[in-house]
Amino acid sequence: MIKASDFGKDFLWGIATAAAQIEGAAQGYGKGKSIWDTFSKRSGKIKKGHDPAIACDFYHRYKEDIALIKLMGFSGFRFSISWPRILPQGKGRINREGIRFYHAVIDECLAQGIIPYITLYHWDMPDALEDEGGWTAYSVNDSFNHFVITCAKEYGDKVKNWIVLNEPFGFTSLGYMLGIHAPGKTGLTNFFSAVHHTAIAQADGGRILRTEVKNAHIGTSFSCSEIIPYTQNESDLLAAKRVDCLMNRLFIEPLLGMGYPTANWDVLEKFAIQHSTWRHTERLTFDFDFIGIQNYFPITIRYNAFIPVVQAWEVKAKSRRKPHTAMGWEINPDSFYNIIKQIASYPNIPPLMITENGAAYHDKVVNNKVHDQDRIHYFQQYLAALLKAKQEGLNITGYMAWTLMDNFEWAEGYTARFGLVHTDFKTQQRTVKDSGLWFKDFLSH
Ligand code: NOJ
Repeated sequence: MIKASDFGKDFLWGIATAAAQIEGAAQGYGKGKSIWDTFSKRSGKIKKGHDPAIACDFYHRYKEDIALIKLMGFSGFRFSISWPRILPQGKGRINREGIRFYHAVIDECLAQGIIPYITLYHWDMPDALEDEGGWTAYSVNDSFNHFVITCAKEYGDKVKNWIVLNEPFGFTSLGYMLGIHAPGKTGLTNFFSAVHHTAIAQADGGRILRTEVKNAHIGTSFSCSEIIPYTQNESDLLAAKRVDCLMNRLFIEPLLGMGYPTANWDVLEKFAIQHSTWRHTERLTFDFDFIGIQNYFPITIRYNAFIPVVQAWEVKAKSRRKPHTAMGWEINPDSFYNIIKQIASYPNIPPLMITENGAAYHDKVVNNKVHDQDRIHYFQQYLAALLKAKQEGLNITGYMAWTLMDNFEWAEGYTARFGLVHTDFKTQQRTVKDSGLWFKDFLSH
């Protein structure tokens, strides 16, 4: 059985959350609306018509929630700052009440001996900026930089660990290409312009933090998945390569100074030719102190001529009779190991940190307990795969579990439970699950 101490004494063990998923207090307190506040009002967009208005009410309960992090033995807490809570219009006037709130959260972490990790963008674009085009508009970069400077100046003395963006592939593809996340836009042009502006934002954000925060430890995070061809036929192999370009390479390679991977995918090549800005890659690079990897599952890909853009189709775990979580996501620790190796193999890659990993299950509270053995098993297998990668010499500096407590899971509303702590959304009662207790034990050895 593996132990936390096998990872070394400097390894960071943390737990991750995001503002829109836990805070609630979405209205009032001087906060502006985010795209998720408005998107959730559109009928049929979020399961069961749920919205983030109250979520876990972390805004009022942060002290007891930080106490739970301590109880489970984690030493790092990753949370995000809600942009419209700090800048209600996305730029211009600062909301002092919002500033005060994050000071209170940070101070509570520090008082409890927990290291704060701040994510600057975890998907809650101010609605006022979305009216100007959101991530598709070039002007978003000035506004984002203003937000980063504001946060860095305000919190930089107390917080040294920063993550600029959370999963640019996630919010650009789901929000600007497929329309299933806020702001619900579709199409390739929206998607590619959003991709470009997020690439600028992540590098600019890094540079601003470097200037503004003394001794900062700066990262940004990517969702990464191993892309597995369904067969070894050439058409499946090529389809898998295109999806790898789209989901993994498109986001990390410009940052590393390699430009966009246009040579490997004709759709990208065509777009790059039409948009000359895509050739200006210097602004997209920044020497981060760490790269955050977020992984949950691999994706198995089969060629399909009828699917636009990628001509590829995902063959789901269920139809292949593979073990999967309540989200239908394949449980495959080898693929976790493989994707870490893939990312680590870029020349000059900064140290890696796993900034999210976890699993949703249909948990039930029985006599004040939640017996989530499946989740424990998931973590045991994934952590063993991580240890193997680390012991082979890869520079991996930490691991953050997703997530502290069941919360607002975007388009799934409150139906998908990822927490180590169970949230009763009617009473806001927290119940530490067996997986949370498992971590407590694991982290003590
Ligand atoms: C990725 C996102 O960063 C997070 O917000 C989400 O809840 C988890 N994955 C699970 O889907």
